[in-house]
Order: sequence, then structure tokens, then C-alpha cells
Amino acid sequence: MSRLPAKRVSCSSLYSRPADFRDPVASISPAGREEKRSGELAPIGETFAVFGIHLQKSELELIMAVQKVLRMGHPTLLHVAEPVMAFDTPALHSLIRNMFDTMAALDGAGLAAPQIGVSRRVIIFGVENNPRYPDAELVPTTVLINPVTTSLDEVMDDDWEGCLSVPGMRGMVPRYRRIRYTGFDQHGERIERIAEGFHARVVQHERDHLDGILYPQRIKDMTQFGFIEELFPEEGKKVLPLES
Ligand code: NI
Repeated sequence: MSRLPAKRVSCSSLYSRPADFRDPVASISPAGREEKRSGELAPIGETFAVFGIHLQKSELELIMAVQKVLRMGHPTLLHVAEPVMAFDTPALHSLIRNMFDTMAALDGAGLAAPQIGVSRRVIIFGVENNPRYPDAELVPTTVLINPVTTSLDEVMDDDWEGCLSVPGMRGMVPRYRRIRYTGFDQHGERIERIAEGFHARVVQHERDHLDGILYPQRIKDMTQFGFIEELFPEEGKKVLPLES
């Protein structure tokens, strides 16, 4: 029996990638450098390989607004983010587009604005039906601004979490099983929902980012924190981090 119980396999696989998945950001490398290594002539100009297609940098910027994700240790991740005061503005729409592009490129289940260096109380999350992960618990794709979360009872569940700001690692984190969350979308429309299970977990994880809290700070048993390949030597090869 691995340390990843069956129940959690589906949850983990949600955040996971098959072994042949190429991280689009990791694979964005100057093609010239790779070709020099292999002894071939460098191409004229610099192109970037994205899913096997070589694009000019300007073309890449046109199609995606993928941002660099800050990693644990960066001071911005420790700040308490500021509330959003103005809705439906070009700056807010641009921020949200950048966040969705970044989350999609990294195959994440959620993202908080401070993770891309914007210290504002904006989170996004969502897991749509994906034939690669038929057992995944679905989470509605949501923009949640100035969120407030309340636990509906005291019941907490432990499960594995990952974070795009703590790449390659997982930890066992207790979270409230059932919560109510409220906030606003990018147009200023109020959102109020009750969530449980994985949906509730993702919201709590993202909400924590807005107060400068990363999941390792929530771990009760530090023996349940480590590198994916070490924690899950069998699953780790085919199942990579689910992160948010
Ligand atoms: Ni995170």
C-alpha cells in the first residue's frame, strides 16, 4: 500500500500530469541553445519551442499571457494582499486574463494574484471535465475577488496539496470539509456558494495566499511533507504535481 490512499489518488491525479506531459513553460527555451548542444547550427534569430512548434517571442506573447510564478521565499508571497476597490476595469480584466493563462499553462487547479506578483485579493480556480482525469472532482471555473470564507462546521479532512509556488512538493494539509464562500466576480457581481471536499479545499488554499500563508505553514505532521518522487515513488513517475 503506498502512502497515497486510493481515495486520494483521484484527488492527486487531478493536480497531476501524465509522464509525457511537457510543462509548457519549462519547454519554452531558446531553441538555439538546444540546437547548439546537439551540434547543429543555431537558427537565425531566437525562437521558442511551445508544444513542438517554434514561435518568435512576439508571437508567443500574442497568444499567451503566462506570467512567472513566484516561489516560496519571495517576500510578496508573505504579504497581506490589498482588497480590490474598482471592478470591471481594464487593469482587473488584464490581471484575470494573465492569471487564467498562467494557471492553464501550468495545469493548475487554482491561482492567487500574489503568486504572479500582484498583491491584490483576487483568486481564480476551476477544474473542468477532463477525459485524462475522469475521476476528478469538478470545481466550477470561478473568479473570486475579496473572498470571505466561513467553515460550516468544525470537521476537517486531511489530504495532499501542492502549490505552484512550492514546485515538486506535496504536503498533508487539514482543511475544513464544508465552507461558505462569498466575494465578487470581475464585474462586481456578488458570489455566494457552499462548497465541500476538494472544491472547499482549493478555495481555502487560494484564500490563504491572500493572507501570505502557504500550505506548508498548515501542515501538522512534517513527516508528511516532501518531494513528490520520494513520497510517491510509484505514482510519482506518472502522476505529477497537482498544484494551485
Ligand atoms: Ni498555492
